[in-house]
Amino acid sequence: MGKGILIVGSLNMDIVVEMTKMPELGETVMGKHLSYIPGGKGANQACAAGKLGGHVTMLGCVGNDNFGTRQIQLLKESHVCMEYVDVRQEEPTGTAVIYVDGTGANSIVVIPGANACCDIQYLKEHDELFQNCSYAMFQMEIPKEAVYYGIARAKELGKTTILNPAPAPEALPEEIWEKIDFFTPNETELAKLAGLKEMDERSIRRGARKILAKGVKQVLVTMGSKGVLWVNDKTEQIFPARKVEAVDTTAAGDCFNGAFVTALQQGYSIEDAITFANLASSIAVTRKGAQSSIPERDEIYSICGAN
Ligand code: ATP
Ligand code: RIB
Repeated sequence: MGKGILIVGSLNMDIVVEMTKMPELGETVMGKHLSYIPGGKGANQACAAGKLGGHVTMLGCVGNDNFGTRQIQLLKESHVCMEYVDVRQEEPTGTAVIYVDGTGANSIVVIPGANACCDIQYLKEHDELFQNCSYAMFQMEIPKEAVYYGIARAKELGKTTILNPAPAPEALPEEIWEKIDFFTPNETELAKLAGLKEMDERSIRRGARKILAKGVKQVLVTMGSKGVLWVNDKTEQIFPARKVEAVDTTAAGDCFNGAFVTALQQGYSIEDAITFANLASSIAVTRKGAQSSIPERDEIYSICGAN
């Protein structure tokens, strides 16, 4: 893998239900469309990295079923090394039921299935991938002990670590914070982990600084159509999002993360990597679905006119 990216995380089949308006609790509404689209935060980030030219290997688990077979096939076609993904007999591939309303906003329920098998033992069996990568990226749809183990192991080996804390746990173990190089929550995840009561810009900035004080090196808060806030001990700046007509924001954050680490791997500065990732995810929100929405590298160049 050389100076590659290791992405450790979930692989799901997304069962996407489109409707005009989300049902209230106890309410029945008529839906518009149902589709099955490969997703899962780990797989989406790997897909983005692979499609955008990253040298990426995935660690995660699927079931021995059609959903798992399809995920592996499609990610291979997106240039992700899937050689070490485990096909488990005892659990089905993870699934996510995603409600998307007429504004493109979503609500998601994840049933982990085989993602629960992505445990410490499995990561230890693939220690060579930790040794050989340069960047190790994690989210939180696999057992959290495995995430913390993986971050600690990658840091012990001197790798650059990225944690996208999604979905956000109640708290992170105190000793983990200083092992994280890049922490990439969205506003809700930041609010939960930094104990914010408000989510206005001032509070978000305060929350990011609070996380920084815990020992994280760089905090990147994704803020949907408002773009990204980048905070470290020297800078605090907002990178506005490109103005687009969003139809479905599913995997916007995943696309951002996969694009960001790819740009870093390719030698971009942090500023340029944020700009690149902002552009990639601004394209993703104009399309339906998770992996189906992630752009190719040429599409980004055609927007910004660079290469
Ligand atoms: P999701 O959970 O839906 O995958 P998220 O909540 O983790 O997404 P967001 O903060 O909503 O992530 O979005 C990630 C990035 O995607 C933003 O920082 C921005 O670059 C881009 N983005 C999201 N929504 C829009 C939008 N409406 N217009 C332009 N860019 C957007
Ligand atoms: O971030 C989007 C992803 O969250 C979806 O693809 C779904 O599988 C859930 O994991």
